[in-house]
Amino acid sequence: MRRKIVAGNWKMNGSKDLSEKLVGYIRSEAGSLDSGVEVVVIPPAIYIGDVLRQAQDTVAVGVQNVGQWQSGAYTGEVSSEMAKDVGCRYALVGHSERRQLFGETDELVAEKVSRVVSGGLTAIVCVGETLEERESAQAEIVVASQVRTGLSTVVQGEWKNVVVAYEPVWAIGTGKTATSDDAQAMHAVIRHVLKDMGAPAEEISLLYGGSVKADNAAALFAQPDIDGGLIGGASLVAKDFVSICRDFPANT
Ligand code: PGA
Repeated sequence: MRRKIVAGNWKMNGSKDLSEKLVGYIRSEAGSLDSGVEVVVIPPAIYIGDVLRQAQDTVAVGVQNVGQWQSGAYTGEVSSEMAKDVGCRYALVGHSERRQLFGETDELVAEKVSRVVSGGLTAIVCVGETLEERESAQAEIVVASQVRTGLSTVVQGEWKNVVVAYEPVWAIGTGKTATSDDAQAMHAVIRHVLKDMGAPAEEISLLYGGSVKADNAAALFAQPDIDGGLIGGASLVAKDFVSICRDFPANT
């Protein structure tokens, strides 16, 4: 069975105080959440220690980005080995903000994915088309190519450490969400591409991201190929985030 996952990407937001309140609240509610749902918090790297202490193993913790190197003279970078060393279990790779603002290419994503998954962390690999690409009917081609190249370095035995997040760029932070039918259609394409690549596609969790809120998560999570969400803005509001974690259909 595929893992159901709700991951909160705080981006460059938060503080010591927020980390304490937010994670404290999630921890206090963790016992009442479906035990089959993996809750992941992905704070800015500087707060990871605080979050891990607060989480006390009730919530998994991830890092928003890793360098493609193990260690060395790379000022400002953090490696996936370091993230694992301190207790992180997940790493985001190829978020559209990294692609757009920091020039990350699919080839670089592939290098980072390889480091992350071979080191035993789970990579949440983000893919998604721009509005222009969607309007010119290129969305499926773009996303399929991001999946093929970004995951080209994954070898048999490492797929268990791969999660794919479909995040249409035009839906991120805009309040616009893909309809659950459109999101499902793209998730089905991604699963098909993974199968074609020789991956155990039916076992790989696929998350949807882009303006997921407490009031639209249930319709998205009810889709057969949507196994959870990658949440930005709403992950900074404790009650909203926990409410999203409860939005899976019963008996799945
Ligand atoms: P959003 O961000 O939920 O604020 O749209 C999602 C993301 O960037 O992962």
